[in-house]
Amino acid sequence: MAKKTIHDFNQMVANGEKIVYLTAYDYLTAKMQEKAGVDMILVGDSLGMVSLGYDTTFPVTMDDMIRHCQAVRRGAPNTFIVGDMPYMSYQASDEQAIANAGRFVKEALVDAIKLEGGGPMIASRIKAIQQAGILVMGHIGLTPQFMGQIGGYKAQGRSAGDALKLVNQAKLVEEAGAFSILVEGVPSAVGKAITERAGIPILGIGAGPYTHGQLLIYADMVGFYDNFTPKFVKKYANVGEILTNAFKAYADEVRQGQFPIDGEHTYKMKEEEVKEFLT
Ligand code: KIV
Ligand code: NA
Repeated sequence: MAKKTIHDFNQMVANGEKIVYLTAYDYLTAKMQEKAGVDMILVGDSLGMVSLGYDTTFPVTMDDMIRHCQAVRRGAPNTFIVGDMPYMSYQASDEQAIANAGRFVKEALVDAIKLEGGGPMIASRIKAIQQAGILVMGHIGLTPQFMGQIGGYKAQGRSAGDALKLVNQAKLVEEAGAFSILVEGVPSAVGKAITERAGIPILGIGAGPYTHGQLLIYADMVGFYDNFTPKFVKKYANVGEILTNAFKAYADEVRQGQFPIDGEHTYKMKEEEVKEFLT
């Protein structure tokens, strides 16, 4: 199947078809997701927790992101890929934001970048990157790079006033030139209101069923990452348990001398060669 473009996503929205969005961080996972027909892949800075073992996304660097975006691109050559701009790769200035967004496109061949926030400063970054010819996805609501200010990993927009703020942020981000917005961790009513008012595809993670598409962190939905599971996650598999059991079975068999079995998991050598080499 040909790689989707923003025209396809806009058409899907017009047709009432949901956009399927998942994170991936490596070659193998990206390959499986492309095979499964996922519409859009996010190489999220959640990479920090899922693949690198950090407690937050803050330590993730541009080089980390580029390396993993390259791997995902190799695994999913025909899927629309969004690269997530890590903490302090766009906050300082429009120039810094353009340069780092450019690295995602130039070095990892991503189709779009994503950045967090909905204030005037972020609107300026979106406009600048967009004017450099790069597709920008906004990200509002529960934005982990603002963790200190939002007071932890918790749902946003639960009061009427906060909900209205998010609706206004979505408007600002759209007007700044974003091609799509990801809304994270808000009540369904807020996800719905933002979606109804938007002229661009609204994707949700923990934002209810009314957005134009859904995102999950793949490692959450397959039961791979188990340090913490948000309320909005549905587990479609228990890959962590499957892998742990496989590692245990291997350990047992090695210790008991049951693996490898000679003749089955081994290379063959002609009898005369064995004899010659042993004499
Ligand atoms: O980094 C990420 O995976 C994300 C999603 C959780 C929204 O930004
Ligand atoms: Na992120």
